[in-house]
Amino acid sequence: MKKPTIKTVAVVGAGVIGRSWIAVFARAGCRVRVFDRDAGQRDKALAWFKRYLKALRRQGSLKKKAAQRDWEAVGAAETLAEAVDGAGWVQESLPEDRDIKNAAYHEIDALLGPKGIVASSTSAMDMTDLAHGVPGARRFIVAHPVNPPHLIPVVEVLAGQATDPTTTKRGIAFLREIGQAPVVMKRFVPGFLLNRMQAALVREAVDLVASGVADVDAVDTCIRDGLGLRWAFMGPFATANTNADTGIREYFTRFRGAYHGLWDSLNTATRFDDRLVDDLGRQTDAMWAASVDDQRAWRDAMIAAVRDLKARQPAPARSTKSPRRRSRPRGR
Ligand SMILES: NC(=O)c1ccc[n+]([C@@H]2O[C@H](COP(=O)([O-])OP(=O)(O)OC[C@H]3O[C@@H](n4cnc5c(N)ncnc54)[C@H](O)[C@@H]3O)[C@@H](O)[C@H]2O)c1
Repeated sequence: MKKPTIKTVAVVGAGVIGRSWIAVFARAGCRVRVFDRDAGQRDKALAWFKRYLKALRRQGSLKKKAAQRDWEAVGAAETLAEAVDGAGWVQESLPEDRDIKNAAYHEIDALLGPKGIVASSTSAMDMTDLAHGVPGARRFIVAHPVNPPHLIPVVEVLAGQATDPTTTKRGIAFLREIGQAPVVMKRFVPGFLLNRMQAALVREAVDLVASGVADVDAVDTCIRDGLGLRWAFMGPFATANTNADTGIREYFTRFRGAYHGLWDSLNTATRFDDRLVDDLGRQTDAMWAASVDDQRAWRDAMIAAVRDLKARQPAPARSTKSPRRRSRPRGR
């Protein structure tokens, strides 16, 4: 990985997401200052990072020198001012509360040098609202990671109305430099892209169990040993492109009626009540003899293995061209 163009980063808010960002920035070669209003949380995040580096050393995936370098690149900040001083990027991972974030933005904006960018990990909020009234709103963007960002590279990028296009451009470039996979949203929509698609699928999964069509194990198997095998390396459109001999046009034309019929029947009214949640819990418990911690450790190892496989087996010739423009209908 080449050295990133932004050298110093502040991680503001060192909870579940902030601590994982520390690992992303440090392994990319940035200096990282970590601040949390609760010094105990900050220290816990640093202790987590130390354990993470040790685990990588034990697995043999990180050399001693690199682990040392990563550890030494990270420092605790006692104040917000100390954290953002000289930073080119501030990754804000404060609680999902509009007023907490907005108040912090006023402070950060006043402390940060003119070229600094502020990126929010928010899962659901619009930057137009979060940075409302902040004098330097032009340098604020959403950079929403998937938990945990040190394992999952996608970051959803969303500009606010006041965001300078240069901020977005520089932000995307930086995220790529540090090994993440930015996707750009053209406008705000609740849930952004990823959680919206996840919610659509989870709604149907829950409804299939709640309405007695199948049990939890059957639904999970359909994804794990069915759709999911493709989804780790191709999205729904790339999949559609391979589902008919001549590609996506043929597939969506041929199956248009089938999809329309299914879409009309997908509009479920399922809600999580206590009985349903308990039933899902009972069925899920029955699938596993291992503890949740062990399931998580296995999940993380599998993600790393799949990413490794993807890196070793790149996609056949992907194009970098923009799509051909549709010809305009005559008379318009
Ligand atoms: N947890 C997830 O799965 C996930 C995934 C993607 C994005 N996010 C987003 O990331 C952000 C952080 O979420 P989280 O799950 O890490 O939350 P968290 O509660 O684990 O961490 C928030 C941290 O912010 C600190 N904090 C609170 N107010 C502060 C202030 N004024 N100044 C400095 N520190 C302060 C808290 O002490 C805490 O350590 C949220 O916007 C959330 O929506 C979370």
